[in-house]
Amino acid sequence: MPSSFFHANERMCALTFMAWNDRLLTGIEAVDTDHRKLVEILNRLYGGMQSGLGREVLDDLFDELLDYTQYHFAREERLFERYDYPLALEHAFAHAKMAKWCTEARADFKRGELPGPSLQVLSYLKDWLFDHIMETDKRFAEYVAARKKY
Ligand SMILES: [Fe+2]
Ligand SMILES: [Fe+2]
Repeated sequence: MPSSFFHANERMCALTFMAWNDRLLTGIEAVDTDHRKLVEILNRLYGGMQSGLGREVLDDLFDELLDYTQYHFAREERLFERYDYPLALEHAFAHAKMAKWCTEARADFKRGELPGPSLQVLSYLKDWLFDHIMETDKRFAEYVAARKKY
């Protein structure tokens, strides 16, 4: 195997911050599409930071990530209403807490000198997204799937 294969592969690995995993699928198509999109933006932002893109580009990508996060939360919350979800309040509260954290992270980034959001910020987003999908979003998806059987 040519050594360049390994280099290309290592580079790809280095730029993929959060690999998509089908374990993350909830079965609600619109929600899954949003989750994939969030992972994709997160990876684009990380890749941009790794390849030294300018602050303005990273700024736009960070905006895109935070805006899409809020857009996605709103979509899920509309679904809670449609399905009369009994855990809507606590799920929406988790969203609101995250939205507040995002707003603060964004303000910190704007004030700071760093060329991009810190890796700590991206890692927190990644871990939060993974845990939230696996536990909270999936709980909602199970409820929807059970209701559809009636
Ligand atoms: Fe979600
Ligand atoms: Fe959610």
